Amino acid sequence: MSSSTALMIPTSMRAAQVNRFGEARDVFEVVHNAPTPSPGEGEVLVRQRATSVNPIDCRRRGGYGKKLMELRGMADLPLLLGNDVSGDIVAVGPGVSDRLLPGDAVFGAKRPSKEGTYAEYCVVKADDVVHKPAALSYAQAAALPYAFLSAWAALRDAGLQATTAAGKRVFLQGGSGGTGVVTIQVCKALGAHVATTAGPAGVELCRDLGADEVVNYRTQDFAEHLSDFDFAVCLADQGEEKKMLSILRDGPGSGYATLCTP
Ligand SMILES: NC(=O)c1ccc[n+]([C@@H]2O[C@H](COP(=O)([O-])OP(=O)(O)OC[C@H]3O[C@@H](n4cnc5c(N)ncnc54)[C@H](OP(=O)(O)O)[C@@H]3O)[C@@H](O)[C@H]2O)c1
Repeated sequence: MSSSTALMIPTSMRAAQVNRFGEARDVFEVVHNAPTPSPGEGEVLVRQRATSVNPIDCRRRGGYGKKLMELRGMADLPLLLGNDVSGDIVAVGPGVSDRLLPGDAVFGAKRPSKEGTYAEYCVVKADDVVHKPAALSYAQAAALPYAFLSAWAALRDAGLQATTAAGKRVFLQGGSGGTGVVTIQVCKALGAHVATTAGPAGVELCRDLGADEVVNYRTQDFAEHLSDFDFAVCLADQGEEKKMLSILRDGPGSGYATLCTP
């Protein structure tokens, strides 16, 4: 019944689209006449203030996942990459509760689609965004959702649960990367003991973020220094899977998962 509630929205928008697969310098085109999407049932339209570039965007730009996207009917070009939403709601579709209103600053992760967030406006499910805390800039907020939600899914796959994480020993391989920096902080906030590996430039950063043990993977073998972990999550190099399994404690309840794309 109700149509969308909206601020003034242009019918076309700027977007950085991919017209064929390949290297970034060859395939991105900034257009000024991409159609502005409209929010459907349960969706909101966000005027983007910032977004992120994650490894998956670079892979998809090169053609990774094309078969899967074909199966999902999302393979045709042009393609708009990007998952992280960070901006202001400008229109609310039917069926969205008054938790979200035009003018609200929000952030979140858009599910995989061919209409991503490298655009002035994007449509996202209302359930996939939350209000942006005032303490976070739009750029800071854009760096968090997709990386953290992916890493959190891997931690859950390994067996970690927020309610029982306190006191658990968690190993995060690659703590200085996009997924690592936020995951270290959340595991620490949940009361876990966190060990991680990082290159020389990232060791101090991981310590500052609260990691209890940081191993420089370029000069040391973490498997010689760490043992008896409840959970291990691969955030960088799957070639080290055996070593990650070797530092887990014996017995039920321990687990390993990987986030790395093959
Ligand atoms: N970001 C996402 O949203 C997302 C989502 C799903 C899956 N993934 C996958 O998850 C993996 C990590 O993503 P990311 O965004 O965190 O990548 P990233 O920002 O590129 O970070 C990777 C980090 O791993 C470190 N590293 C590389 N080899 C290492 C090793 N052997 N041991 C310890 N650290 C090592 C690098 O440190 P140095 O530079 O010092 O070597 C770098 O800081 C990728 O395979 C990606 O495809 C990412």
